[in-house]
Amino acid sequence: MDASDISDDLDQVLLTEDQLHQRLDELAATIDADYAGRELLLVGVLKGAVMVMADLARRLHVPVQMDWMAVSSYGSGTKSSGVVRILKDLDTDVTGQHVLIVEDIVDSGLTLSWLLANLRSRGPASVEVATLLRKPESAKVSLDVRYVGFDIPPAFVVGYGLDHDQRYRNLPFVATLAPHVYADD
Ligand code: IMP
Repeated sequence: MDASDISDDLDQVLLTEDQLHQRLDELAATIDADYAGRELLLVGVLKGAVMVMADLARRLHVPVQMDWMAVSSYGSGTKSSGVVRILKDLDTDVTGQHVLIVEDIVDSGLTLSWLLANLRSRGPASVEVATLLRKPESAKVSLDVRYVGFDIPPAFVVGYGLDHDQRYRNLPFVATLAPHVYADD
């Protein structure tokens, strides 16, 4: 999928494919240096983190395992409440492992805050977070996110794994939507 497939639905491209890939190169180099000599367990949060997980993992040179969690946050519409239910848990025992949570976006931070507490309670050697995007102005909790791709304004964005109503995940870039797309939300 590219911009010409849905040009009427797009407002503005916020981050191009080149910008995303360049930043992932940088993040991967930093993560490689930080975890030199150790093995990492990458925990991707479904479904939004699929693209960033695939592209980040392929850039890493340290040995990695990859596992996935799916969580749903109770809330109204697109707003997270911080009350989270596990839809799919890890297959891996994280005890003693160096865990890196891989996220598409940190908005209010409530989902991630719950996830951090949940994984920390399982006795890992360490837990850190890598997120492609973060909306600092939307933060409701202060979180220590070690690896951040881009800080963006609090607009709703799609593409590169991020959806609106399950669509647009397969755009190779990150964009804001035209108002008519979410007018009925
Ligand atoms: P939080 O608990 O408010 O940080 O919500 C995080 C989750 O909300 C993300 O993992 C996304 O699934 C979703 N989300 C937040 N902002 C956006 C956005 O701009 N576009 C698409 N999904 C979003």
